[in-house]
Amino acid sequence: LKNSEAIFQGAAPLLKMIEVREVPSTDWEQLLNQGFPVPPGASFLHDFPVWDTVNFSGRAVATRGFALKDSDKYVAAAGLRFAKLRSPRGSVTIGLIGGVVADAAYQGQGLASRMIEALTAEAVARKVSGLVLWGSEHSLYQRLGFELMGVQRRISLSSVKTDAAALSGLRLGKGWTDSLWPAIESFRFLGLEISPQDRAWFASHPNVDWRWVSSPAGKILAYAAIGRGIDLPNIVHEWGGDARVLKALLATIAVDYPYGDLLVPSKDLTPSTLDLPAGIEESLCMARALDPAFPASKDLWFWGLDGA
Ligand SMILES: CC(C)(COP(=O)(O)OP(=O)(O)OC[C@H]1O[C@@H](n2cnc3c(N)ncnc32)[C@H](O)[C@@H]1OP(=O)(O)O)[C@@H](O)C(=O)NCCC(=O)NCCS
Repeated sequence: LKNSEAIFQGAAPLLKMIEVREVPSTDWEQLLNQGFPVPPGASFLHDFPVWDTVNFSGRAVATRGFALKDSDKYVAAAGLRFAKLRSPRGSVTIGLIGGVVADAAYQGQGLASRMIEALTAEAVARKVSGLVLWGSEHSLYQRLGFELMGVQRRISLSSVKTDAAALSGLRLGKGWTDSLWPAIESFRFLGLEISPQDRAWFASHPNVDWRWVSSPAGKILAYAAIGRGIDLPNIVHEWGGDARVLKALLATIAVDYPYGDLLVPSKDLTPSTLDLPAGIEESLCMARALDPAFPASKDLWFWGLDGA
């Protein structure tokens, strides 16, 4: 990592014994499974396959994992990937940081902070417009220049008004199918651009419950995805298609998930044809703008599978 010197500036003596290098996915996976509430036998990478540097490394989505190693042991790691983000003012290149983890025995010594500083230096060298991450440790990330940004509205699924007749003569389906691609690609008006190379990780989320409606000829007319393993439980976080059909689809999901919610962008960004209730507004992510092209907070939106 060419910016590794930055990591050691001002570091505590312990950190000087630790080297930084690209981390193999298997070592990173072990750290991640210990650091996050992953059920026994499951893996963090099932819910976040984009950080799987073995199956989806540089070749596919330019995902990079970096880690700190103490003798033989990886003790902290974090990932960075680059993607194009759509916003109302056009498309910009951003860096997404995820899979940030420190071994329990090494926490509180600034290792995660050093990793994020190194990844930021890497992103700055690549001239991205900004960096985005999802994390509940707000004070940690605020110290590193990130702020809460983006607006998401959380709407109870049961409050969405629907017209059940919208589904008459149509087929309701369940589970991932590649025939979702044309619908997803034509509907994603905001969020990350899904490049052909992204398709592998996008389609390999075993814990996402996909639902869709198709015409008798098999054309997907509306789709929605709920849950993502340890993340986004009971939450519809990907959706799209014809407004009337989509709302009827959401009503069928509400039967299976009576306490389910739907995430949508701020009112200004949501298509008005959807005519959804206002819901509760909250911040979407933490971000650090690096140039003026980075979207304003109210214009920033990501779909569930974009989240790192
Ligand atoms: C979050 C985590 C990566 C921090 O690693 P670290 O090397 O201890 O972090 P640093 O030493 O650089 O910074 C410590 C800061 O992290 C913050 N922090 C750590 N754990 C936290 C927690 N559970 N809740 C809130 N803040 C937390 C604190 O603000 C702390 O700052 P302080 O010194 O003012 O108390 C580590 O605790 C971890 O691996 N947790 C499990 C995995 C995880 O939740 N990852 C983040 C989501 S992407």
